[in-house]
Amino acid sequence: MRIMIIGGTSGIGLGLAAHYAAHGAELALCGRDVTRLDGHPLASAPGVRTYAFDIADRAAVAGAMQDFGAAGLDMVIVTAGQYVDAAGLAAQPALGLRLAHTNIGGLVAAFDAAAAVMREQGRGQIVAVASIAGLLKAYPDGSLYSASKRAAIGICDTYRKALAPLGIALTTIVPGYVDTARLRELNDGDAGGKPFLLAEDDAIRRIVDAIERRAVRCVFPWQLHWLVRLFNLMPSGLRNLRRK
Ligand SMILES: NC(=O)c1ccc[n+]([C@@H]2O[C@H](COP(=O)([O-])OP(=O)(O)OC[C@H]3O[C@@H](n4cnc5c(N)ncnc54)[C@H](OP(=O)(O)O)[C@@H]3O)[C@@H](O)[C@H]2O)c1
Repeated sequence: MRIMIIGGTSGIGLGLAAHYAAHGAELALCGRDVTRLDGHPLASAPGVRTYAFDIADRAAVAGAMQDFGAAGLDMVIVTAGQYVDAAGLAAQPALGLRLAHTNIGGLVAAFDAAAAVMREQGRGQIVAVASIAGLLKAYPDGSLYSASKRAAIGICDTYRKALAPLGIALTTIVPGYVDTARLRELNDGDAGGKPFLLAEDDAIRRIVDAIERRAVRCVFPWQLHWLVRLFNLMPSGLRNLRRK
């Protein structure tokens, strides 16, 4: 099994990498700064390569995909994603475009590059990690992150249909809160207040299961999914009271 993980240098992507490495997969771990893996056991594990690129750089993504994919490419997992809140956007407007380039443009670049290799093989699986925030209906105080993940889910649906005739499956993972270092960093070191927070290894197990089932879309945890559904049913006046 040969798997490229874009966003494989930390959090959910690194957790998935550890799982697949333990099951004998050959891996390409990708991120902008692969020195983040220095000292991690996977960095020196046999069968693990690293590629440093920005997912928004189409040529770089395609180059890495062709290089690693030359010996076959069974799966591409995209976990690369960024978050910025309204205060962050106001302070640093450039973060908005960077988020869009990563969460939306980068996703498309990764799908195109993966499809270019996989169509030659006539098979393959692409997995994209969106967010349950992307299932929230748009509302005036909605975040750019939500909007980008809403777009990501829609892009996945479109690509799934387009790639199916080529023998390429696409699985969209739509998680709620996962207790990664990045989520803790965004919450002053403690994400414990987030509703229905999942431990990282629990989330990894659910994602691996969805990948093995070749699920079209996997949303978890169900409790947060139901809260989002209820929120979406609320009259717009009430929905607009929600912050973030
Ligand atoms: N944690 C949660 O609660 C949660 C919930 C729902 C959805 N998600 C989604 O799950 C994904 C992973 O989240 P996480 O918590 O594991 O975050 P994380 O630890 O920050 O991991 C993000 C990974 O993506 C890479 N990355 C970011 N921007 C990139 C870019 N422009 N080009 C290439 N690589 C890039 C990062 O490496 P570099 O910084 O070195 O590039 C890192 O390896 C994200 O898409 C996130 O939106 C997370």
